[in-house]
Amino acid sequence: MQKIEHCCDVSYYLQTALEEGYRHIDGAWNYGNEAEVGQAISESGVPRKEIWLTSKLWNSFHAPQDVEPALDESLSRLRTDYLDLYLIHWPVAFRNGEKENEVDWELTENPYPTWKRLEEMVDKGKVRNIGISNFDIRRIQNLTANPLKIKPYVNQVELNYWNPQPELLNWCKDNGILLEAYSPLGGADRVRETLAIPEVQDIAKELGITPAQVYISWHVQRGTVALPKSVTPSRIKENFQVTALPDEAFQKLEKAATSHRPSKNVDPSKGWGVDIWGWIEFDEDMGNVM
Ligand code: A2P
Repeated sequence: MQKIEHCCDVSYYLQTALEEGYRHIDGAWNYGNEAEVGQAISESGVPRKEIWLTSKLWNSFHAPQDVEPALDESLSRLRTDYLDLYLIHWPVAFRNGEKENEVDWELTENPYPTWKRLEEMVDKGKVRNIGISNFDIRRIQNLTANPLKIKPYVNQVELNYWNPQPELLNWCKDNGILLEAYSPLGGADRVRETLAIPEVQDIAKELGITPAQVYISWHVQRGTVALPKSVTPSRIKENFQVTALPDEAFQKLEKAATSHRPSKNVDPSKGWGVDIWGWIEFDEDMGNVM
């Protein structure tokens, strides 16, 4: 594998991760870097079939006629003819018109027309699995109340010490939907605070591993797929080491994470004018955005 020299671009981080053994690449149309990701994969020498490649349908492309062109654009940028997983990025549909981020309320409340197109993409072989992201239980139920041919395989949501979502986790387990954890270390703004939590520091010392490894192991042990993010080679390496936590340590962290008032790092509700998770009453700072 030829080493990419630029230390600060996506290709470099991706190449580092692939060399470390990572094979799961979580991307999205809206991240704006699929061309670089595609280039890095094709130059890595790692066979496509060894990689689990995810992309996400952006809010502006939920109208049925927009789904396949958006997917085709992602496939072409990623230099592949199929995705392992394609997710509806947010349970919010924007009209693909002149007004920026104008919400299509009907399609937001019932995304079945979008889902049907995703099912067709599976039939066409462009996508192997389909799922959702940032859906709460009510929104999943709104979708699955329709006569789906394929049920959501995955729901990718924010999961971390601050927002552990035990109810969603249990509900998804009971309903056969795999949860994926984004911001598993609390995200860039809170990672330092997250790693400093006393229970995690104690467990890390006891087991001789790092606090980040404690969290990633906890996510895996909860039955979720952890998606840690780092642009630091030593951390990319560190985050790949998962340990089986003794039950006592696991329960201690689970209790600490679920015993405080939850808060989200990622919440575009206010900017988009949509109460995405029904948190409006819950979060006094947000006011009524509807
Ligand atoms: P950096 O990219 O500079 O390495 P999350 O995965 O929850 O979204 O968190 C991402 C943030 O956590 C980034 O700021 C990243 O910094 C930082 N981070 C990732 N892995 C580690 C680690 N092992 N130790 C400390 N900070 C980390």
